[in-house]
Amino acid sequence: MLYAQITGWGRCLPPARLTNRDIMEVMDTSEEWILERTGIETRRISHVMSADLAHVASERALACAGVQADKIDMIAFATTTADEIVPNTASLLQGKLGATGAACFDLNAACTGFIYAFQMVSDMIRTGTIKSALVVGSERLSSLMNWKRRESAILFGDGAAALVLQASTQESGFFQGKMGCIENTRELLAIPDYGLHAIAQHRPLDITIDFHGREIFKNAVNEMANACTEVLERSGLDLKDVDLIVPHQANARIVEALAKKLNADPEKIVITLDRYANTSTSSIPIALCEAIEQGRVRPGATILMTAFGAGLTWGALLLKWGERIAPLGESSIELPATDKTGLELIKEAIRLRENVWHDNK
Ligand code: COA
Repeated sequence: MLYAQITGWGRCLPPARLTNRDIMEVMDTSEEWILERTGIETRRISHVMSADLAHVASERALACAGVQADKIDMIAFATTTADEIVPNTASLLQGKLGATGAACFDLNAACTGFIYAFQMVSDMIRTGTIKSALVVGSERLSSLMNWKRRESAILFGDGAAALVLQASTQESGFFQGKMGCIENTRELLAIPDYGLHAIAQHRPLDITIDFHGREIFKNAVNEMANACTEVLERSGLDLKDVDLIVPHQANARIVEALAKKLNADPEKIVITLDRYANTSTSSIPIALCEAIEQGRVRPGATILMTAFGAGLTWGALLLKWGERIAPLGESSIELPATDKTGLELIKEAIRLRENVWHDNK
């Protein structure tokens, strides 16, 4: 029997911070409102592209696994902020890493992307189609935000994380999962011009998130709770058997409502959204990496992950950690330095929108 063991992990958070107080300089909001309604205190803003964040996270994950990039069979790049659509950003990452033997694809299931990618790639390893893979989540959502939309712009941050999966005969890795998408909820969270619509209709681009926070909130809690319950039932496990819960980091109130619905012990839940906000598809692997670094992942631990995102997509999965919790090696790679603050980067992004994009909403 083959398993898809996690043998390497690495994350990359850009250095520039944007606090709630900083955001008050560019929109009508308050520190208290953001903290109370979301649990977010600060977030990171990237000065580089998604592939650059992914590159650093991936080098760290490969060093942690003690695996050379050219031995990787597949790169699954989950993102909603691809540097380029054609060719895909996974192939850009391939070049940066020298992963010459890898098949490359991008996957967009919004914030659920990592859950989808991890499950699909794990199944390919378990069936023997491939022997190793890099599963990456990377986002630079700050460049997509319309800073006139205070209900959405405050929620997101930038960052990346990567896991190395390798075939193993030791029982570990992904063992149960469920993925889905609620039909007819597409308009609850959408960026209509972030595709061919505007171009095909010969309109100027207006990259703005249409966002119905309350509706997304309710759907998110229900679907994540249902998905978690189903994967637990199918594995014959109870929530008491789960050592760690890594939920998507969208809003502290969503996580609290989910925990209440599942009757989960808050001590088992990993939270990073206070410092990194919602990094979309990267949020779960970033939180997992942090939990490992903090010694919260024990050998043989059972870990439950769950997410939701635009679509509305949703998913949950259960995995069993292997024996090793220490990295085999470390990479010295770092992002190029910047002395810009998060606020300076955001002000630049706002100026760029005004100059380049039609922005009258
Ligand atoms: N600062 C101050 N006030 C704000 C604000 C901001 N940044 N954003 C919205 N408000 C105001 C609204 O205008 C509204 O005012 P009104 O009552 O006078 O109309 C009030 O706050 C309440 O807005 P509402 O949208 O009902 O708040 P909420 O409690 O639902 O919280 C979200 C809003 C977005 C934080 C919450 O709904 C949420 O987290 N939703 C899901 C998150 C999500 O979808 N994430 C992305 C997908 S993964």
